[in-house]
Amino acid sequence: MKKIEILTKRLRLKPLGSEYLQTVNDYAMDYENTKYMCRLPNDNIEETVNFLRNADAEWEKEKPEYYEFAILYGNKHIGAVSIYFEEGIGELGWIVNKKYWRNGFAYEAADALVHFFIHNMGTTHFIAYCDTENVASYKIMEKLGMVRTGEWGGRRNKSALQDTCEYQYELIVSR
Ligand SMILES: CC(C)(COP(=O)(O)OP(=O)(O)OC[C@H]1O[C@@H](n2cnc3c(N)ncnc32)[C@H](O)[C@@H]1OP(=O)(O)O)[C@@H](O)C(=O)NCCC(=O)NCCS
Repeated sequence: MKKIEILTKRLRLKPLGSEYLQTVNDYAMDYENTKYMCRLPNDNIEETVNFLRNADAEWEKEKPEYYEFAILYGNKHIGAVSIYFEEGIGELGWIVNKKYWRNGFAYEAADALVHFFIHNMGTTHFIAYCDTENVASYKIMEKLGMVRTGEWGGRRNKSALQDTCEYQYELIVSR
């Protein structure tokens, strides 16, 4: 796959891979940074190494099934946005290092990602999930124009002691 780079007003999105090991690990092993995530926090740096190796390999494919992007602010790596495809539907995800929260960075990156995939990859159906307590995450979904299409119990975040509830949001673009 030709390496995609997406520019926004303040940010640059570049393929996420092993070169970002330390800065990804900083947030991936942090409890507060990952408490609403199903697959994080990582227990050790090896898990981060494996995740990034897989992201590297995916970028090498002719037609990747998913795209992980590093969010760069100046020359600082501050987080990641992603889109994972299943049957043509793109599932969105995002994480920002807690030092950079509440600056509009996640929304700015996610908005650019969605527009890039609509205009350059022909994606028309986006989906996203989050814990019902993850206000920052569902606010991003709502700002992207996504609509809540599901809510159910039985979500298990990795570090949670009990099941929580989950929202599903979708965006369908007419062509
Ligand atoms: C979710 C996350 C990526 C948001 O990053 P961010 O860069 O701080 O988000 P933004 O600054 O773009 O904010 C988006 C909206 O959420 C609001 N918001 C951000 N943090 C908030 C918080 N803790 N409580 C309430 N609202 C919040 C912002 O005010 C903004 O809404 P507004 O434009 O109406 O003011 C970040 O909190 C994070 O990394 N969380 C941990 C990882 C995670 O949970 N990812 C999602 C898994 S589903």
